[in-house]
This record gives sequence, structure tokens and C-alpha cells, in this order.
Amino acid sequence: MSFASVEATSDYSLLIQQAQALFHGEQDAIANAANLSSLIYHGMADLNWAGFYFLKDGELVLGPFHGQPACVRIPLGKGVCGTAAATKTTQRIDDVDQFPGHIACDAASRSEVVVPLVRDGELLGVLDIDSPKLQRFTVAEQEALEQLAHLWLAASQ
Ligand code: SME
Repeated sequence: MSFASVEATSDYSLLIQQAQALFHGEQDAIANAANLSSLIYHGMADLNWAGFYFLKDGELVLGPFHGQPACVRIPLGKGVCGTAAATKTTQRIDDVDQFPGHIACDAASRSEVVVPLVRDGELLGVLDIDSPKLQRFTVAEQEALEQLAHLWLAASQ
């Protein structure tokens, strides 16, 4: 299966459509997370990591991703991922070095978006997208990533 890459300035509706196509008729949460990680990693310019952490026994545990090997466990409230999880709000960080407690899994990361995965008020995990460029993510891109996270939540059991 092949999906065209899109430029940083492109309309992200293509990514949304591709995610809908990948999830169609498939409810497996891990399979859909793996495909969404790949789709985002290859579909958005200037990323060095895209993937999932799932809430297990009160901490975030690494799930499917694309990029370098990453920290396996992140406590709630720690770093950008732990903050998104603890507050259930998306974190869009222009400069991760300015974020107190940022966890540098990959020293190349400079900016980051983390979307909490919340179903019926219950935290399931986070979708984490990292870039080696400062201020990589616009509000429109944050919203596109939130929409992709919601598609995963809606499709997966
Ligand atoms: N930078 C993240 C940790 C996860 S990795 O970047 C994949 C953070 O501070 O939450």
C-alpha cells in the first residue's frame, strides 16, 4: 500500500482521508495505531518521531511508533506527554528545551505536539509527534493531529 507524502504547507484533509481509508473495517487498536504512526511520520514534513503511548497501571507505556527507539515508560505529569495525559489537553510546544521537565528521548527533537486520547472521559494514552525543527507545528496542524487522534479513537476498540 502506498500513500503520497504531503508538504508542510499542504491541505491535511488528504491525511484525514488516508486515515479513514486505513481504519475502514478495522477495529484493532494496535494495528490502527501502527498504521496511523506510519501515515503521520511519512505524510508530514520534518518529523523525527510519531507514535503512541498507552496508559497502563497508572503510567504511559510506549506503543506503536515510527522513529528512533524511545523512552518506554513516562509517569503522568512528567514531560510533554505526561502533561498532556495528566491534564487531558493537547500540548503544542514550540521549543521543547523551554518546557520544564521535557524528556529528551531523542536529542534531535526541538518542537512537539502531544494529543491526549480520551474516550468517554477516560484517558487511554497520548499521540506524540516530534520535530527536529523549532516551532514546527501550526495551530491548523495541531487541529489536524487532533482529528486524526479522534479518528483512531472512533475506529479502534
Ligand atoms: N519528548 C517527550 C517524550 C517522548 S519522546 O519524545 C518519544 C516528552 O517530553 O513527553
